[in-house]
Amino acid sequence: MGSRFEPSGPLRGRYSPPPDKSISHRAALFGAMADEPVTIRNYLRSADTRSTLDALLTVGAGVDEDGDDVVVRGVGLHAAHEATGGRLNVGNSGTLLRLLPGWLAGQPGGVWILDGDESISRRPVDRVVEPLRAMGATVTATDDRLPPLTVAGAELHPITYDLPVASAQVKSCVLIAAMLADGTSVVTESAVSRDHTERMMRHARVPFERDGLTFRVSQVDELELTELQVPGDPSSAAFLAAAALLVDGSRVVITDVGLNWTRTGFFRIAQRMGAVLLGDLEEPGTGTDEEPIGELDVAHGPLEGTEVGGHEVPLAIDELTLVGLLGAFAEGETVVRDARELRVKESDRIAVLVESLNAIGADAEELPDGFVVRGDGGPLRGGTVDAHGDHRMAMLGAVAGLASVEGVEVVGMEAAGVSYPEFEQDLKALLS
Ligand code: S3P
Repeated sequence: MGSRFEPSGPLRGRYSPPPDKSISHRAALFGAMADEPVTIRNYLRSADTRSTLDALLTVGAGVDEDGDDVVVRGVGLHAAHEATGGRLNVGNSGTLLRLLPGWLAGQPGGVWILDGDESISRRPVDRVVEPLRAMGATVTATDDRLPPLTVAGAELHPITYDLPVASAQVKSCVLIAAMLADGTSVVTESAVSRDHTERMMRHARVPFERDGLTFRVSQVDELELTELQVPGDPSSAAFLAAAALLVDGSRVVITDVGLNWTRTGFFRIAQRMGAVLLGDLEEPGTGTDEEPIGELDVAHGPLEGTEVGGHEVPLAIDELTLVGLLGAFAEGETVVRDARELRVKESDRIAVLVESLNAIGADAEELPDGFVVRGDGGPLRGGTVDAHGDHRMAMLGAVAGLASVEGVEVVGMEAAGVSYPEFEQDLKALLS
């Protein structure tokens, strides 16, 4: 059974998005690695971040939930459940699947098996297997590539490593393992990806240096942390921002949203497409140890096609499908390239996007590493979108419905609960 999203009147008002998923995962994990209790303010309540708390309980951390806050009572960097091991269910979370092994790999004597849902069984883990093995852990996976992922902890050695994919998850895994290795590791990324782990490490006083795309991390005994604040999620906000950009007469002010420049590529791309979008976006290439929080003011207006590729891709990785949706309503051609990673997200997002857009009347085509969408500036007809179990594709279908002529039926809308359980409620509030 699907959920229907009918053509709507304008979205209007002030809106604050749910807490950031990436930062919530990291805050909980850093809390578990700390010696003293860490209070996480504004922790995301969603299926993915629930999986993280459950996994951390299994490795011995304490978790006290109190309204919007969570207190994690950690075991310290070196004592994950006295390193005995066990089975860990990561659910649908690729982030948990890639980050947690970085810590577990440095726990000698422990053996853990990480597995999750049907979508997780298709998420590549070779990208963490290789560096963790090189650091001395025994790590195995199906065909060396797919979950279940087995991690046997060891005394880790430092690594000098060039990341083969621009992935914040893999970078974070290696940086976390580097805190446990007996020396200084040097990690180089191929393009800037979200930098929440680095900001949190500096916040926790980890010996850490950055020089361009290269990081140096030295062993640390203890994380100095007591409190972490989670901003609103710009990736979740992007869906309601897209709805406001596409539905005639809309104007929405998004408040308390994270504006870290490594996460706001979508908003810069939308501005380039002609979107009326004002805000306190952090300047690319800048940034402090803190996570900037601010406002965005978004209004409906005409859009033009654009080209996206290269270094811009990791900065908008979770919103590239929304660029495709905007492209379907824009005048001219929108092309996204260098985004092969989209094929190994919660679904094959290139295939699912193109199937979804064409099913509701757009002209979209797959490229091996992206897609092309041709628009004439008019609205889409509508029809049925199958989310294929992917939270972001379900929300994209809903947004398309509001801006369509005949409405959109979304098959699998419940997937939104992975990152944004209140999505439909928040949408309704802006429509009333
Ligand atoms: C994430 C990084 C991105 C993103 C994912 C969350 C993170 O993945 O797609 O939703 O929290 O580090 P990659 O860095 O693997 O591209």
